[in-house]
Amino acid sequence: MSKKLFIETLGCAMNSRDSEHMIAQLKEKEGYETTDDMPSADLILINTCSVREKPVSKLFSELGVFNKKKKESAKIGVCGCTASHLGDEILKRAPYVSFVLGARNVSRIAEVLHKDKAVEVDINYDESEFAFDDYRTSPYKAYINISIGCDKSCTFCIVPKTRGDEISIPDELIIREAQKVVDSGAKEIFLLGQNVNNYGRRFSGEHEKVNFTELLRRLSKIEKLERIRFTSPHPFHMDDEFIEEFAKNPKICKSMHMPLQSGSTKVLKDMKRGYSKEWFLNRVEKLRAECPEVSISTDIIVAFPGESDTDFEDTIDVMKQVEFDQIFSFKYSPRPETEAESFTNVVDEDIASMRLTTLQDLNTKIIDDKNATQLGRTYKVYFEALNRDYFVSGRTDNNLVVKVKGSDELLGQFRDVKITSIGRTILTGEIVA
Ligand code: SAH
Ligand code: F3S
Repeated sequence: MSKKLFIETLGCAMNSRDSEHMIAQLKEKEGYETTDDMPSADLILINTCSVREKPVSKLFSELGVFNKKKKESAKIGVCGCTASHLGDEILKRAPYVSFVLGARNVSRIAEVLHKDKAVEVDINYDESEFAFDDYRTSPYKAYINISIGCDKSCTFCIVPKTRGDEISIPDELIIREAQKVVDSGAKEIFLLGQNVNNYGRRFSGEHEKVNFTELLRRLSKIEKLERIRFTSPHPFHMDDEFIEEFAKNPKICKSMHMPLQSGSTKVLKDMKRGYSKEWFLNRVEKLRAECPEVSISTDIIVAFPGESDTDFEDTIDVMKQVEFDQIFSFKYSPRPETEAESFTNVVDEDIASMRLTTLQDLNTKIIDDKNATQLGRTYKVYFEALNRDYFVSGRTDNNLVVKVKGSDELLGQFRDVKITSIGRTILTGEIVA
């Protein structure tokens, strides 16, 4: 009987891809099969996130529960960003953990598995050429890493400390990988990096100069590849050439993530984001002029140290001007080893909560108004998931989630769908062609 692996993945898409890598390694080298049933597992992995404090504190309570419920012989491994930043402290706080494996070291999973109390958390480890393995959660779309680490130094962000310096993966490897997944039937690829449009700044070895725009051009030449998505681009690096390629290349999905963080130029400066409110609005204007159908999502942090009422009003102003299609909004959470951790002009917790509510209420209104205009429209949908009650769901080019009545025969297929009813996060429709 094969050994069983239970893996829980927290955080971002990069963590999801790292989990896929670990599963691939453990299947191939150690004969594991995945299970959703933790108490029957022989190996339990938690792939952690550390961008905010909450998931970190949750980790230790969860570890306690896992330890109580697991099979006696089962090993627990803590992987990912919290593993990178807490290292052996995890073994001190939870001595029943068998090993700790950092976000930049996931390629070594099969190795640490056999070393009791191993702590592998080297953030300078270069696994840029290791980024490809055969395990994929979905047969219809594939995550592909294009870079590892992050070279920015946003003052609130712990990621450069957990994932190290940025290294781009050679484009020939990325193209080969994309070709491979397309040959296996996937029609969509999802390129991943902390800062994708900084691609090509540094490779491990000698490499021809290739920027992100050129990488997109090269990838789109792959026959039978129909959709390219990516996350996350940085507003600072959104030059005209990139926006124009995005708009005119039919294989690039018309959905752009533009992490604003704050609408106040003063706060953006304190965050060391490298752009102003005006630059951000100018990029949105250029993007919408070139590509009117684009949907734009964003990340916003409220109550960064020193954020005044006027600064927050600037964020609200950008929200009203841009009318984002989706926002991910957070209260600022001080992180260890970041520059902002020592900022003393902390915003009162009640004010922070109020600002988050104001922002989210405004967003809900914007989304409801936008959704109301969707009724009766027809979109091309790529179906990728089977839901309950005989529904199949997929995404439009501009990232709306749409479900229709249907069977698994629709999976991996494109269909024209007319929207017949509206929900806040998912639209319902019927196939017209
Ligand atoms: N480059 C990555 C950023 C990873 S962090 C990307 O663009 O996806 C993801 C998001 O978490 C950030 O955009 C930011 O909005 C939020 N975040 C990061 N650090 C944070 C902190 N200390 N407090 C609150 N939110 C934070
Ligand atoms: Fe973090 Fe800024 Fe990089 S948000 S991941 S340091 S671009």
